Amino acid sequence: MEKQEIIRILESNNLESIRKKAYSVMKEYSGEKVYYRGLLEFSNICINDCYYCGIRKSNKESNRFSLTKQEIIDIAVWTADNGYGSMVLQSGGQKDDKFIDFVEDVLKTIKEKTISEKLPNGLGITLCVGEQTHETYKRFFDAGAHRYLLRIETTSPILYKKLHPETQTLENRKECLRILKQIGYQVGTGVMIGIPGQTIDDLANDILFFKEYDIDMIGMGPYLIHKQTPMKIHTEEMEKRKKQVFNLSLKMIAAARILLKDVNIAATTALQAMDPIGREKGLQYGANIVMPLVTPSRIRKDYQLYDGKPCIDEQSSDCRECLLNRIKSVGREVGFNEWGDSKHFFKRIK
Ligand code: 5AD
Repeated sequence: MEKQEIIRILESNNLESIRKKAYSVMKEYSGEKVYYRGLLEFSNICINDCYYCGIRKSNKESNRFSLTKQEIIDIAVWTADNGYGSMVLQSGGQKDDKFIDFVEDVLKTIKEKTISEKLPNGLGITLCVGEQTHETYKRFFDAGAHRYLLRIETTSPILYKKLHPETQTLENRKECLRILKQIGYQVGTGVMIGIPGQTIDDLANDILFFKEYDIDMIGMGPYLIHKQTPMKIHTEEMEKRKKQVFNLSLKMIAAARILLKDVNIAATTALQAMDPIGREKGLQYGANIVMPLVTPSRIRKDYQLYDGKPCIDEQSSDCRECLLNRIKSVGREVGFNEWGDSKHFFKRIK
């Protein structure tokens, strides 16, 4: 029954009625406030080789960087001072001891340095550093990360295999999500929408998967080409399907909201790459989270997962002003200095 309902939404051309329904569910279960997650892309070094991603290991044209601890802490303090409430620490997949020790140390220090009257528990921290072991996830949790994002990318085993080398398995991603939940994280996942070969049925299964795994947060967006990846052969096809993929992305947000109700859903930057007001539209279709970039301007261009990443030449303070105006333009308010945790999480752990 549920699956039919999702398929009906994804196949519908009546966008406005879907938008209204999703918005009213959001209003009732999550509220209309929008919460910020300052997104810091702190290293683009990656041991993985996902065929679609611009920072994959085999992309020799990518300039690799890693920020220092001091740089990260300064940005975290800026994020807290500017009222964002939370930040996301994201990097390419790395698993060596040095990296793990570094992240653990950074988490602890951010927590120490961002406690204030406005934020008595410091900045909320979401971590997004890929597949790790149970032990590593536990160390990061104990060091202060309380949310974790790990996209499943697609729940179709066939598509997953087409997009990843054999060493990267769908089963391991699922196992990681189970471990993260068990440790006590608020867990986020998501998929890419419009992958060549992906069907409406696949996308409906993705949403059912979010429900089955009792996911707290969702971040999903359109699949976009990066020309320095093997997927560049699909450029022409993707160009033709652009409008369709964008609308499908909005319908996926709406369907997730309607089915899952009280989860946090991000209006992702990839939406903005496709449409100048993509993120605002995401908010109107049921999203309640935005992730203003806090990555230093000089390295924004080196963290390109797909071509056409927006806001590359801006500074963090530009993004702050710009985003606030965009959010106001769709009649929403920002929950400054709040963590804005997923309401679903608190119901789940009760
Ligand atoms: N298009 C859209 N999203 C992408 N990601 C990586 N490469 C692309 C791309 N070409 C997404 C993946 C990953 C997240 C960090 O970025 O879903 O999990």
